[in-house]
Amino acid sequence: MVSKFAAGVLVAASLFHAAVVDAAKPTTAEDIKKSLETNGLDISKLPSTAGYEIATDSGINTGPQHCNLLCPALARIFPGQTLTRNQSLLFSNWTDAFWSQQQEETTPQCIFQPRSAVEVSSSVLLAELFTCSFAIKSGGHAAFAGSSSIENGLNIDLSKLNGITLSQDQSVVEVGPGNRWVDVYDHLLPYNLSVIGGRVSDIGIGGLTTGGGISFFSQIYGWACDNVVNYEVVLASGAVVNVNTTSNPDLYWALRGGGNNFGIVTRFDLSTHSQGPLWSGTLIYTPDKTDQLIENFYNYGVNAATDPKSAIIMNWAYAEGTFLGVADIEYADSTINPPIFQSFTNISTVENTMAVRTLSEVTDMFKQSNPDGLRESYWTATFSLTKDMVSFLVKTFEEESIRAANATSYTPALVLQIISTDVTKQMQKNGGNALGLSPSDGNLLLLNLSFMWAEIADDNLILDILGAITAKSIAYAKANGLYKEYLYMNYASQYQAVLPSYGRENFERLQKVSQTYDPLQVFQRLQPGYFKLTKQPPNATYPSS
Ligand SMILES: Cc1cc2nc3c(=O)[nH]c(=O)nc-3n(C[C@H](O)[C@H](O)[C@H](O)COP(=O)(O)OP(=O)(O)OC[C@H]3O[C@@H](n4cnc5c(N)ncnc54)[C@H](O)[C@@H]3O)c2cc1C
Ligand SMILES: *[C@@H]1O[C@H](CO)[C@@H](O)[C@H](O)[C@H]1NC(C)=O
Ligand SMILES: *[C@@H]1O[C@H](CO)[C@@H](O)[C@H](O)[C@H]1NC(C)=O
Ligand SMILES: *[C@@H]1O[C@H](CO)[C@@H](O)[C@H](O)[C@H]1NC(C)=O
Ligand SMILES: *[C@@H]1O[C@H](CO)[C@@H](O)[C@H](O)[C@H]1NC(C)=O
Ligand SMILES: *[C@@H]1O[C@H](CO)[C@@H](O)[C@H](O)[C@H]1NC(C)=O
Ligand SMILES: *[C@@H]1O[C@H](CO)[C@@H](O)[C@H](O)[C@H]1NC(C)=O
Ligand SMILES: *[C@@H]1O[C@H](CO)[C@@H](O)[C@H](O)[C@H]1NC(C)=O
Ligand SMILES: *[C@@H]1O[C@H](CO)[C@@H](O)[C@H](O)[C@H]1NC(C)=O
Repeated sequence: MVSKFAAGVLVAASLFHAAVVDAAKPTTAEDIKKSLETNGLDISKLPSTAGYEIATDSGINTGPQHCNLLCPALARIFPGQTLTRNQSLLFSNWTDAFWSQQQEETTPQCIFQPRSAVEVSSSVLLAELFTCSFAIKSGGHAAFAGSSSIENGLNIDLSKLNGITLSQDQSVVEVGPGNRWVDVYDHLLPYNLSVIGGRVSDIGIGGLTTGGGISFFSQIYGWACDNVVNYEVVLASGAVVNVNTTSNPDLYWALRGGGNNFGIVTRFDLSTHSQGPLWSGTLIYTPDKTDQLIENFYNYGVNAATDPKSAIIMNWAYAEGTFLGVADIEYADSTINPPIFQSFTNISTVENTMAVRTLSEVTDMFKQSNPDGLRESYWTATFSLTKDMVSFLVKTFEEESIRAANATSYTPALVLQIISTDVTKQMQKNGGNALGLSPSDGNLLLLNLSFMWAEIADDNLILDILGAITAKSIAYAKANGLYKEYLYMNYASQYQAVLPSYGRENFERLQKVSQTYDPLQVFQRLQPGYFKLTKQPPNATYPSS
């Protein structure tokens, strides 16, 4: 059955003068070559694929890989846009530019830097033709190896897709995934406008938005994925399509949190809002304030929805032998010390950086505490908000994290945020997102365990600590009726089964959308990294109870 969406794909594809492949039809090498020619590629430059079967099984086995044929061909067809291991200095400069050491250590066979959606389309079609596994990199801030990097495969780097265009009426800004959030904030600053995006300046547009995207202003507008009015997407067929509430609406829903499973987004059209400078900064407290901070944070969570301009990121971090409390506080306008934060500002601090700043300044400031090049792991879970749950998390974090106290450059952090009912209300707009959250869940407590360290020798101990804190917290929550299955993709570890956590109905719907737009399951088979629909971590049932 050819669904109405597949038909929509065809119409949109011809509109874009890009490859036209019926998304519902099995693709042969001849189909792919035709699409490559439509994209303007000289296929006579390609090595013969005779003797290679295009793997079409929907399992995870990708069969023999032929990146060793594809990489030199890409280098011939796109010189200046392809980096191979032969160019050792440029190549290692590129691999060094990931945020985490684990991703930097992952070595692709070649890197391709497309300059247009059509070139992205050609690279995906070529990866299919030669059965070469690939990964997509936007800002490169995902933590674990293989998230946006790939050992021995093709790394598609979207950094050259870095356009930013504000619409005539200023209501929408078209943003390429090669930008970092601060580029967009800087661009919109002179107009007193902004968008819903990341809180650290150099985070990428692509990963943050396809996984959800928490901003300072999410109580007012929802998450980043809820504020995309249109996605331009390269599908497995090579077609370049618009995805919005009226064009491919099923895919629009799926892209709101479904990650890298459906296609490559080559442009995010983001809704703008008025935004001036904001009162924000960091308050740091000594360990004797912990009980008071737990009380304050819990009260904030209960009341957050009464003041949608407010946001708090509450951290406990280990540094130089003690656990400090760190509150990152933001108010969406220049109001100084509004009542909702006064329980935090009324207790004495060891440091207070609160000031009125532009959004760009705030995100640059938060970049200082997130250096590049260390080993990194983040883990997540979601709970109903109670004071005892917050206390349990703080206690368990302190008990467990101390076990690695001697690890070099060890910086463990327990980071807690509130997903208030204001946020989940906003998530329902324009048909809702895929995350499975609703205002009926009440105010939720989102766990982000974020650990940094320097030496590979400490990996096992630190991962064991992270697993233990997560498992104990979930067990406590289950025992007290506080467990919420949802795992936030952008904070999850490689050991967590993210997409099933969106709830059975949403998980099945996502799989259906994937079958419709990617019938040969290219984005499952050939793009193995990050959180997939068809493959869960070995201990996916973890934490069992
Ligand atoms: C210092 C720091 C601060 C952070 N702050 C926030 C925050 O304020 N709010 C928040 O919600 N999260 C935050 N995060 C988490 C962040 O959202 C994720 O790390 C996210 O994956 C980063 O996006 P990226 O583009 O930089 O990542 P990448 O590593 O480039 O990509 C991550 C994944 O997304 C896929 N992907 C990227 N672009 C595309 C695309 N165009 N089409 C399809 N798939 C794509 C990649 O293939 C990869 O699997 C932060 C992380 C760090 C390290
Ligand atoms: C690297 O250089 C060798 C020797 O010149 C060449 O045979 C090979 O094709 C090159 N590899 C790529 C990927 O260009
Ligand atoms: C090295 O990488 C950085 C950042 O990734 C980039 O800005 C710079 O241009 C690169 N240098 C070379 C010589 O490629
Ligand atoms: C932006 O806001 C500032 C301060 O309110 C104002 O002076 C300026 O004129 C505004 N700029 C635009 C383009 O509206
Ligand atoms: C949705 O996609 C259609 C088809 O390409 C396009 O005409 C329309 O402008 C898009 N809507 C938005 C809001 O971008
Ligand atoms: C904080 O202190 C201010 C000034 O002393 C006071 O007005 C306010 O009520 C206090 N707020 C809280 C929440 O304690
Ligand atoms: C850290 O090192 C010190 C000094 O060698 C030692 O006394 C302490 O027990 C170590 N702590 C841990 C948690 O290993
Ligand atoms: C999950 O599995 C991985 C790989 O086998 C292992 O390293 C990790 O410790 C496990 N995590 C937990 C919490 O059991
Ligand atoms: C979790 O919180 C810490 C501290 O605020 C932050 O540095 C880190 O980037 C966060 N992790 C993610 C994945 O956002």
